[in-house]
Amino acid sequence: MTYSTFDSEDCAQARAKPRRFDRVTIGLHWITVLLIVGLFASIWSLEAVEDGETAALLLTLHRSLGVALLLAAVTRLGWRLSRAYLPPFPATMGQVQQGAAKLSEYGLYALMFVQPLTGLVQSFTRGKAFVVLGATMPVVMERDKALTRLFHDLHENVAWVLLGLIALHVLAALFHRIVVKDEVLQSMLPWSTGTVRKAGRARNEGVSAGRPVSMAE
Ligand code: HEM
Ligand code: HEM
Repeated sequence: MTYSTFDSEDCAQARAKPRRFDRVTIGLHWITVLLIVGLFASIWSLEAVEDGETAALLLTLHRSLGVALLLAAVTRLGWRLSRAYLPPFPATMGQVQQGAAKLSEYGLYALMFVQPLTGLVQSFTRGKAFVVLGATMPVVMERDKALTRLFHDLHENVAWVLLGLIALHVLAALFHRIVVKDEVLQSMLPWSTGTVRKAGRARNEGVSAGRPVSMAE
């Protein structure tokens, strides 16, 4: 009986794959987390301050962090679709759980685009120049109160959906760490815990070889 060389090569290759995301993905993940913390902190502080000048500064900071987040999200998606290494899910995770994990990650990606865009549109509809990352954005339209209200409400509601999804995401990561005790959380930590096994097959095997795969899955 002959075994195909593909199987043994495949196993050898599989054993060599670490259960850890690549450094760029990990770096971008935690930069995004810091930006999102800054976004909520700046807007909630703005709502608490009385002084108009400080409020204006906080809004400029909020807008700048939001645009920085949009740039980080574009970079992150580009990296994920081209060169990222996505470690395999643990063997203990069923298909339904894997599907839910992927779905929540796609949702987070979508909101990392939608939320800054609704913020930007809202700012443009105010009909006044505003500053983002040190650059003055031009006035592109007359003030439109109805549109401002619409995009303000959208921006506010999507922020709550984003917060809810982040809460689920963090709870899932902690559930893996504390209850299931697998290596999902460690695979995204910026430091190595030394406990991450080498095993499995990359989720996006073939992407770096140029195979166009949706969301690199
Ligand atoms: C993921 C990115 C962002 C998040 C999580 C976020 C979150 C929020 C939240 C929670 C509010 C308060 C809503 C309310 O209760 O009234 C808000 C308000 C606002 N955001 Fe954002 N935002 C983001 C990006 C942006 C961007 C990119 C801009 C513009 C360039 C922007 C402009 C504004 C403006 C103008 C307000 C209204 C402030 C006010 O009513 O005084 N946001 N944002
Ligand atoms: C605050 C906003 C957050 C956002 C927007 C976010 C977004 C994402 C996304 C999109 C992924 C998929 C991998 C990728 O393409 O980069 C991911 C993976 C992951 N995140 Fe987060 N994340 C956030 C916060 C956190 C926090 C606070 C933790 C830890 C407590 C965490 C733990 C993880 C883990 C363990 C993975 C890997 C899951 C897997 O193996 O599929 N994330 N995150």
